[in-house]
Amino acid sequence: MKVIVTRDNQEMSQKAADLLQLCMEENEESVLGLATGGTPRGTYQELIRRYKAGELDFSHVTAFNLDEYVGVDQHHPQSYHTFMKEQLFQHVNMNIEKAHIPNGQAPDLQEECARYEALIEKIGPPHIQLLGIGHNGHIGFNEPGSSFKSETHVVDLADSTRDANARFFESKSDVPSQAITMGIQSIMKSKRIVLIASGEKKAEAIRRLLSQEVSEDFPASALHSHPDVTLIVDLSAYQKI
Ligand code: F6R
Repeated sequence: MKVIVTRDNQEMSQKAADLLQLCMEENEESVLGLATGGTPRGTYQELIRRYKAGELDFSHVTAFNLDEYVGVDQHHPQSYHTFMKEQLFQHVNMNIEKAHIPNGQAPDLQEECARYEALIEKIGPPHIQLLGIGHNGHIGFNEPGSSFKSETHVVDLADSTRDANARFFESKSDVPSQAITMGIQSIMKSKRIVLIASGEKKAEAIRRLLSQEVSEDFPASALHSHPDVTLIVDLSAYQKI
């Protein structure tokens, strides 16, 4: 795992955008794996800035998002469909038909998971996968205890994850209790992985990640067996190293 320590969130975002840009330049039909949450916002802003400056073209990009809440309407302000539209897709020349996000409202969730995994197989896997990390080491919504062999599946969100995401909702009780997520194995299929982390609240997760422990109790530790992972972490999140 290559580690890049940056001064702050802004520099972290720029470095992550550099790697996504490189991937888009290297692959004419690039496939990007994308994440939601607070951490990638700056990266998406930087990509939008570069697109507006004429430095980036999204017309040939296919995107796969990691996850979506179960039972939340796609147009709900806190759905990950809405997040991606507002934070990136509607600001760039992305073909929205090529932007894939699991459907958390599918009548048959198991079928939806299988459809999504098959689509990743068929069109992907992503050339590059952007990841954030949960306080408990989750990647995507693969909570501690998730099998390293998991593919796209329905997951019960950990209480700590619902606490962490309550900031985006009116109250914790509004945070959905389930999500569809790409599994650890689905994530590991990406050719390159970029994990970004910012702020002191992530310091313990980064300490544990870099402790070299490999265990299903700490999902991000699966990344140690991937051949091309770059961790981009700002000084606040790196403070326990
Ligand atoms: C989001 C996702 C999650 C987040 C993680 C960190 O699509 O899959 O794993 O990356 O919960 O979230 P933030 O960035 O809000 O701290």
